[in-house]
Amino acid sequence: NAGSKSGRGALIVLEGLDRSGKSSQCARLLSYMEGQGCRAEGWRFPDRGTSVGQMISAYLANESQLDDRTVHLLFSANRWEKRALMESKLLGGTTRIVDRYSYSGVAFSAAKGLDIEWCKAPDVGFIAPDLVIYLDVQPEKAAERGGYGGERYEKIEFQKRVADRYHSLRDSTWKIVDGSLSMETVEEQLRELATNCIQESQEKPLTNLAW
Ligand code: TMP
Ligand code: MG
Repeated sequence: NAGSKSGRGALIVLEGLDRSGKSSQCARLLSYMEGQGCRAEGWRFPDRGTSVGQMISAYLANESQLDDRTVHLLFSANRWEKRALMESKLLGGTTRIVDRYSYSGVAFSAAKGLDIEWCKAPDVGFIAPDLVIYLDVQPEKAAERGGYGGERYEKIEFQKRVADRYHSLRDSTWKIVDGSLSMETVEEQLRELATNCIQESQEKPLTNLAW
C-alpha cells in the first residue's frame, strides 16, 4: 500500500507534446492512487489561476504578445510561485502528480531558438522530480486528437522541434511511455511506474534540479 508509511511523498512529473494525453493520464493516475489509500494530489503548470498564470494564458490564447524571453521567465515565475507549497506537501507525505514542469519550460522556449542553457537557468533550484514520465506521441498523431490547434504552440512543425529539445533533456529519472497505445495500456504502465517510485522515494531526501 503505497504511501502508508511515514516517508515523504514523491514528485512525479508527466511531460510530452500538446495532446499527448498527459492531462487525462494524470487524472486517471490520481484517482487510482486515491483508491489505493495513497495521499496524492494533482497539479499542473502553467497554473493559470495566479496573476502570472493569467498573463501566460492570454499569451497562449494569442490575446497578447510577449517577447520570447519574457514569457519564458513568466512560466518559470509561475513555478516559483508554487515551490514552497510543493516542498511542504512532499515533506508532509503527499505525493504530487504534476502535469508539465521545468522540462516543458526549456523544451518549448528552446524550440523557438533560445539558447538551451539560458532557458535552464531560471529553473535551477526547483525540486528535482523522482520520476519523469514522457508520453511519447508523434506530432502528427497528436494533431489528430480533439481540440488541437486552439493555442499558440499547437502546430506540427513547432511540436517537432519541441520533441527534439525534450529528447536532449532526458536523464536517468525519465521513463518513456508510448503514448500512442490505448488509454488503458498507458494507464497500466503509469500505475506501475508511479507505485514503484513512491515506494523508492519515501526515504530519499529531496534534491534540487541540476540540469
Ligand atoms: P497546457 O496545454 O499543458 O496547459 O500548456 C500550455 C502550453 O504552454 C503548452 O503548449 C506548453 C507550454 N508551456 C511552455 O511553453 N512553458 C512552460 O514552462 C510550460 C509549463 C508550458
Ligand atoms: Mg495545451
